[in-house]
Amino acid sequence: MFGALEPALPDSILGVIEAFRSDSRPEKINLSVGVYQDENGRTPTLACIAEAERRLAAAGEEKPYLPIPGLRDFTEAIERLVFGDDSPALAEGRTATAQTPGGTGALRVAADFLHKAFPNSSVWMSKPTWPNHQGVFRAAGWHIEAYPYYDPNTHGIDFANMRQGLASAQAGDVVLLHGCCHNPTGADLSIPQWEELASIFAERQLLPLIDFAYQGFGRGLEEDAEAVRLLAASGREVLVTASLSKNFGMYCERVGALSVVTKDTGQAATVMSRLKETIRGNYSNPPAHGARAVATALGDKGLRGQWLEELTTMRDRINGMRKLFVETMRAKAPQVDFSFIERQLGMFSFSGLTRGQVAALREKHAVYIIDSGRINVAGMNAGAMDRLCSAVADVL
Ligand code: LMR
Repeated sequence: MFGALEPALPDSILGVIEAFRSDSRPEKINLSVGVYQDENGRTPTLACIAEAERRLAAAGEEKPYLPIPGLRDFTEAIERLVFGDDSPALAEGRTATAQTPGGTGALRVAADFLHKAFPNSSVWMSKPTWPNHQGVFRAAGWHIEAYPYYDPNTHGIDFANMRQGLASAQAGDVVLLHGCCHNPTGADLSIPQWEELASIFAERQLLPLIDFAYQGFGRGLEEDAEAVRLLAASGREVLVTASLSKNFGMYCERVGALSVVTKDTGQAATVMSRLKETIRGNYSNPPAHGARAVATALGDKGLRGQWLEELTTMRDRINGMRKLFVETMRAKAPQVDFSFIERQLGMFSFSGLTRGQVAALREKHAVYIIDSGRINVAGMNAGAMDRLCSAVADVL
């Protein structure tokens, strides 16, 4: 049966990790997959999660199935985190939220649910976007279109072209956006631009789907949610896929949620029944442990305070690394202006390095970044900065 099967290409992000692991050079540097590392290159369990897990173990964690849409304490806590304590959508009971295996799981449930409901719609993605957006939506059978987003000359957003590109979208199409900390570019829309988009979506009957994987890594926990909350305002419909991988450091536990904001309570109930149908036909029901730990941390005043401090530490460290990288590059390669890296938000920067330069970094210097030139700034540390910047200067 399998003799005629062609091998698939390695994943453009997770495939790089495999190559990194098999590199025996001790000085190797991994700036590929979006995982936060501390100054020592480690990704420790957050203290708030370690304590939540200790409490769960002490209470005796049982292992029956969770309900199809997951743990209620968790989905309610995530709704408040994403939409805010004073959210009109929550007060009006217009949301349907399901716990999912990570943000990717949330995207796949959204893609399957929407494709079944609206088989003739297309999905629009920013150019560029996280490569797996295409992987997930293609696997769910979608026709994919792209809208302009990033301008490599300004290292910012080409909003005029973005608007023009979206003018070709048809009523009923889905527009995938990044709620904050755009992956891979680190370039975010301003609030006035989000407001303009919200009017376009309403006028043209386009359905926004917000990938929200980095809440708290950009400007702050509440600030990063401004766009999502604006799109969930009265009378509007939006989908939000939240990931807790980054802000709770729960990468391998696969903790996420899909929220669908509808027009009223009745529609929310119908949507929830469809989400349950989608989930049951895919992974049946979500894993419990990570969601229990996050719900415990969010539900306890002390642990929540500790989490906010840990989140701030991660965000500040990333911003510190941006600054140090720009300063060090200024000394090593003054002919190239990297100052834009300090203006970008979140884990990633679109460095502008070419494929050839990326390959040379890997071969000559054991520095691993992904082919698009995206750098995981959260993987940098002060100890290795000089060597990293010498390597980048060498391949420029
Ligand atoms: C990334 O973009 O590196 C992360 O979102 C991890 C992943 O699954 O690709």
